[in-house]
Amino acid sequence: MNLVVIGAQWGDEGKGKIVDFLAQDSDLVVRFSGGANAGHTIVVGEETYKLHLIPSGIVYPDKKVLLGAGMVVDVQSLFAELEELSRQGLAWQGRVFLSDRAHLVLPDYKDEDRELEGRRFNPIGTTGRGIGVTFAHKAHRNGIRVVDLFDSELWARMPESYRSFLEDYRERLNGMRVNQAAFMADFRNKKILLEGSQGVLLDLDWGTYPFVSSGYSTAAGACQGGGLGPGRIDRVLGVFKAYSTRVGNGPFPSEFTEGRDGDLGNRIRELGREYGVTTGRPRRTGYLDLTALRYACRVSGIDSLVLTHIDVYDGFDEIKVCTAYRFRGEELTDFPSSTEVLEKAEPVLKGFPGWKTRLASSRTYEELPPQARSYIQFIEDYCETPVDVISVGYRRKETFIRRPLWTRS
Ligand code: GDP
Ligand code: IMO
Ligand code: MG
Repeated sequence: MNLVVIGAQWGDEGKGKIVDFLAQDSDLVVRFSGGANAGHTIVVGEETYKLHLIPSGIVYPDKKVLLGAGMVVDVQSLFAELEELSRQGLAWQGRVFLSDRAHLVLPDYKDEDRELEGRRFNPIGTTGRGIGVTFAHKAHRNGIRVVDLFDSELWARMPESYRSFLEDYRERLNGMRVNQAAFMADFRNKKILLEGSQGVLLDLDWGTYPFVSSGYSTAAGACQGGGLGPGRIDRVLGVFKAYSTRVGNGPFPSEFTEGRDGDLGNRIRELGREYGVTTGRPRRTGYLDLTALRYACRVSGIDSLVLTHIDVYDGFDEIKVCTAYRFRGEELTDFPSSTEVLEKAEPVLKGFPGWKTRLASSRTYEELPPQARSYIQFIEDYCETPVDVISVGYRRKETFIRRPLWTRS
């Protein structure tokens, strides 16, 4: 049984929290895309774990995790993260595996990422983690994979500066590397959770290009980076927030504006603690965009939506969602591909009465106030997809499911 968890917006939807929650029932968690541009937060008891490369199953003492072939791995960042986990008292030794096909991020790729950003005619606001440069090297067939460090001829041909940097890591990487196809075959009759990074709207093909990342963040990426065929995916879960956020540049049609929305943008940022895990940048905030969410459901075949951050609206009198875009006198309900249309579009908003109650202690759908249920029902109808998991706070226990998920959808 294999479940895929992806972000259905522009990243930071709470994938880490949800993967951690679901991992209690899985045997293996595989991160299938991205690199240290991601920041996945897990809060268990008093401890907060901030993961960039390590899959979110790691917090359980017995779960195995695999960094998949679709990832770009910065080894400095990887071992710093593992050290931090040790400092937090987490025993990870013997449980972290690395696909020998994953590509490596080298220090000068990070410099190049930052330099390139300065020269772009359309600055993206990258995380500066060398992601785009590594994927470009991969596509140019000039990249370095984990397995290449153990290929004596390739190793000998590598520039001296690369060898001297990588030398220190070779032995430790050797202890973690696996042939992913063979490794995954051993879990054929077990439960695998495939963890995405970023979100559909940051996907290289389906996101708001060019303001995207360079990896794949749709469900299809789980097959490609996870090494599984589409028929082996039993269910795709798409995580989304009760509002929208975006870090970095690019169109954001439902973004709060001071003129229309007063201080709402700052209020949501503070209530939702919307600051980047990787760069600390304040996240841009906006209304939940159902036009964009339905698009994400369509291009990723999302079977179950996962709603997070609904608690952020606890004190609100009214909650609005974006149901269409207004552009040159027309109402658009299909997510446009054009940057210009997305940038100039105005959101069409629909209001719902707030619930004015604290939701964090709710553990079933029936316990939610009727106003919250109507809001959720509207999302389901609009997206033609059920909301099967609801997160009412950042802690692990502040989560509940509405139907069994480890089933074929
Ligand atoms: P990811 O990149 O998708 O894993 O998400 P991040 O970890 O970057 O950002 C999500 C943030 O929201 C983290 O600080 C989480 O602790 C927090 N969070 C997750 N779910 C909820 C929720 O339901 N309510 C609230 N208030 N915070 C949440
Ligand atoms: P998680 O997995 C939010 C954004 C960056 C920038 C663009 C390209 O935590 O949801 P990159 O460094 O990847 O070339 O930057 O993508 N970005 C993210 N935004 N969450 C992420 O990951 C992101 N990963 C990249 O801010 O706009
Ligand atoms: Mg994040």
